[in-house]
Amino acid sequence: MPVEYTSIMNDLFDFKPKAIRFAVMGNPVEHSRSPDIHREFALQTSINLQYDRIRVDGGFDQAVSHFQASNGAGLNITVPFKVDAWKLCARSGNQLSARADVARAVNTLHFQENGTIYGDNTDGIGLVTDLKQNLGLAMEESSILLIGAGGAVRGVLEPLLECRPARLDLTNRTMSKASDMAELFGEKVTPVTLRETGRRQYDLVINGTSAGLEGQMPELNPHCINSNTLAYDMTYGTQLTPFMEWALDNGSYAVHDGLGMLVEQAAASFYLWHGVHPQTKPVIELISKIHHVRST
Ligand code: ATR
Repeated sequence: MPVEYTSIMNDLFDFKPKAIRFAVMGNPVEHSRSPDIHREFALQTSINLQYDRIRVDGGFDQAVSHFQASNGAGLNITVPFKVDAWKLCARSGNQLSARADVARAVNTLHFQENGTIYGDNTDGIGLVTDLKQNLGLAMEESSILLIGAGGAVRGVLEPLLECRPARLDLTNRTMSKASDMAELFGEKVTPVTLRETGRRQYDLVINGTSAGLEGQMPELNPHCINSNTLAYDMTYGTQLTPFMEWALDNGSYAVHDGLGMLVEQAAASFYLWHGVHPQTKPVIELISKIHHVRST
């Protein structure tokens, strides 16, 4: 067949180095900014890569195997598959980083040459780097209120504790989940009810719930916020999230969304895959310009 023959000849004489394949897998995944971020990092570091979005409707493990078999080098994993990715890497033969093991959630897969999979979680380091380096927050001896008790919060608890805050309180709509999660970290994390959040004012209040995705926010006591409070939402969107609006209305001096965290976690994944630290600040600026106003 002439067509096949032509394509074989094209392949034979294509001396251009092939791009290494990466992707973000999730559902939904259409709005993910990860491909834009990794493309910018690739331009900066002159690495030839392809980074796609893959929406997974059926079996997650099968989708990963298929991507690995099609010359995939690594994947980012997003909602709702981070726990599935952790389970996949916890299976014998595969490996987990210590931080992914604590988080019991994986957002980065790296396919090894021997066919095994290494799973890591860069969400926590992404959040802490954004707070400390980009926003200049002194975390040591600070008081932090963290809202939520799902996979996203579990991934950031240990890295936040490593910043040695004076106190870290955890609250959630379903209180039993916050209590169970706090128990895993002993006395270092104190569970408080939503109503009890008004007992003190915090330096930093972090929303780690998915409430904003439905246009809602947890029923916090507004007394937890004053003019020394920075309010941070781990989600991001084209506008202020309901939590950010609420924090501004209640006197918080600054509000930020999770776009910086997203770029920083991407940079940590990029380092795992390529061994190079990309510059994040210009990418945060660029993505915010395209996407929305990052802070007020
Ligand atoms: P993720 O991986 O994003 O953490 P998750 O594990 O489903 O997702 O957790 C979602 C978190 O957002 C939970 O803390 C959830 O509270 P419950 O444990 O009470 O369900 C919180 N959440 C979701 N929608 C919410 C809403 N409308 N109001 C308050 N909290 C909400």
